[in-house]
Amino acid sequence: MLEDLEIILKKVGDDQKKEKPDQNKLGFGVHFTDHMFLMKWSYEDGWHDAEICPYKNFSLDPASMIFHYGQAIFEGMKAYKDKNGQIYLFRPEDNFERMNQSAARMCMPRLPVESVMKALKAMLYLDRDWIPTAEGATLYIRPTMIAVEPMLGVRPAKEYYFYIIASPVGAYYPEGFNPTKIYVSDKYVRAVRGGVGNVKTCGNYAASLAASEEAKKAGYTQVLWLDAVERKYVEEVGTSNIFFVIGDELITPPLEGSILGGITRNSVLRLTQDWGCNVSERKITIDEVIEASKSGSLKEVFATGTAAVISPVGELCYKDEKYPINGGKAGELAQRLFDEIQAIQNGSKEDPYKWVVRVG
Ligand code: COI
Repeated sequence: MLEDLEIILKKVGDDQKKEKPDQNKLGFGVHFTDHMFLMKWSYEDGWHDAEICPYKNFSLDPASMIFHYGQAIFEGMKAYKDKNGQIYLFRPEDNFERMNQSAARMCMPRLPVESVMKALKAMLYLDRDWIPTAEGATLYIRPTMIAVEPMLGVRPAKEYYFYIIASPVGAYYPEGFNPTKIYVSDKYVRAVRGGVGNVKTCGNYAASLAASEEAKKAGYTQVLWLDAVERKYVEEVGTSNIFFVIGDELITPPLEGSILGGITRNSVLRLTQDWGCNVSERKITIDEVIEASKSGSLKEVFATGTAAVISPVGELCYKDEKYPINGGKAGELAQRLFDEIQAIQNGSKEDPYKWVVRVG
């Protein structure tokens, strides 16, 4: 029933098309393409009114539950275009599967993945001229689900919107692939086990703002989060997962409920295992990282995420002490991973993992 959802196509008129931004000055998430996908859900009718339509505003009742209790989830994925105009998506079904896991945790309806994939591909094809081809630029895609029922009681809403918008973007961090400086937060925490840290829900990001603003004021790009109970184990960095190279071991914290299971994180694990690296998903304390830095065995630190791709870390600050990493330069493994993942994503390298989905 769900999978044969009818999708209406309302194309933007030629005279309504927006002017495209300069591909070399995109920033992150400030420009939006001509079209969007929207569908609605109600307790009575399930998913309905699915349309690819001109990018538009919503008119929502001020009592809509999203505004009061934050019942909202989202995803981030990217589309690429090669020199022949072929469009690619990177592991999109994994994003929608993760979104369905987020939906289950947040008491929201399950997405009909096949229909949503069909809609996304059609929308991308329509907006294909918006997919940048300049070095380091891509089309960032933001699937989002929000509770729109107007009601002030605290319970799962009975009405939702699901929509997909797309934004041509440059690098997420102003540093690009240049190493970032990261502040280890022992004052604020991001998530606890049993909470929603492993779910892509809006409140996690709102809750992170105070710490990242303080870090920015102190001259740092982002925050490295420690566990909420002992403030000792490393969890994730800003909006990304984190990896350390200590001696010959590549380490990333395990997914035990408070960390988001990143798709780039998973791709890095797969690639490095296949390259024969000594890879561990294991708990790592901030003290182990600091000790490794002091002894010289901390070779590299890098963050991974859809928006950030691979983002090397050039300095950590913990308890007011600064710990430079790899002389403040991007490490060899981070560079190799960045090159490999980008090449697979943009179709310039063969994809033995079947991660890439062709559009059109
Ligand atoms: C992503 O990497 O796609 C994210 O969702 C992070 C962010 C821009 C909030």
